Amino acid sequence: MQRPTILVTGAAGQVGFELARLLAPHFDVVATERATLDLANPDAIVAAVRGVRPGVIVNAGAYTAVDRAEDERALAHAVNAKAPGVLAEEARRLGAVLIHYSTDYVFDGTRTSPYDEDAPTAPLNVYGMSKLEGERAIAAVGANALVFRTSWVYGTRGRNFLTTIRRLAAERDEIRIVADQRGVPNWCRELAGATTRIIAGGVPAMAERAGLYHLSSTGDASWCDFARAIVGGGAKPRVVAITTAEYPLPAKRPAYGVLATSKFEATFGFALPDWRDALARCNADGE
Ligand SMILES: NC(=O)c1ccc[n+]([C@@H]2O[C@H](COP(=O)([O-])OP(=O)(O)OC[C@H]3O[C@@H](n4cnc5c(N)ncnc54)[C@H](OP(=O)(O)O)[C@@H]3O)[C@@H](O)[C@H]2O)c1
Repeated sequence: MQRPTILVTGAAGQVGFELARLLAPHFDVVATERATLDLANPDAIVAAVRGVRPGVIVNAGAYTAVDRAEDERALAHAVNAKAPGVLAEEARRLGAVLIHYSTDYVFDGTRTSPYDEDAPTAPLNVYGMSKLEGERAIAAVGANALVFRTSWVYGTRGRNFLTTIRRLAAERDEIRIVADQRGVPNWCRELAGATTRIIAGGVPAMAERAGLYHLSSTGDASWCDFARAIVGGGAKPRVVAITTAEYPLPAKRPAYGVLATSKFEATFGFALPDWRDALARCNADGE
């Protein structure tokens, strides 16, 4: 069987970078980033997909600046809501599979037990709303699409919670971190690894399993727990628990965003590790 060409968007991002790296030895990968495929430009998306004719499209690109989105509503909408629909249309035209990522921020966080895929959505901020609209746009097209909601993505590159805490830990004796928002940290490499494993199962198997899934490490944490796990057991820096009210931000966040992953596990036959184990692996990886 001919191996499919895979078009990856957002390949300079956390998940996209790892994906391009993991997929490249096994597939013909066309990795695009903002400079080569601007997801805010629907014509560019159509031209890119028709030019590459991929068997699989992985949309790892997204507008992820949660606070800035409150002021850049139109751009967040173009990238997170409109582009996924255009990609889905093009995937359907070609008979390709679209893999897309969404977020726990589609929920309002009022629950205290893990959200399953059927739980009612009610985003609290512009970013969450734009991602929910992206899910809906894909569903409306009816393409063969796998949509993976995940949460709290980190990695060793760029700016994210892990790299920020590592930097602050080197600079300060004390860091103050919100302890009243709970979720699950996810190492971008685990997400990319799971996606690669699913792609390796082949296009027909993916098409059969088209749908919405929660893809996340297990366990749960507050941001403060996550920060303490990052800095380790040493005396410094001291990680002080604070409330969301003590650290106001432009975008409101859900207080609880743990995703129930049993549908993913039953469908694909594997689970991501506990978040603490994934963090240990990430730390051991060094880079
Ligand atoms: N990060 C999280 O905590 C989190 C949590 C839940 C779900 N997710 C979802 O998981 C997926 C992967 O996220 P991630 O953490 O890998 O995000 P990320 O590191 O922010 O990567 C997203 C990439 O998309 C690119 N991008 C933004 N606007 C673009 C445009 N107009 N055209 C092309 N590319 C554009 C970004 O480029 P620039 O750097 O140039 O902007 C960035 O390289 C996304 O769907 C995200 O919504 C993320």
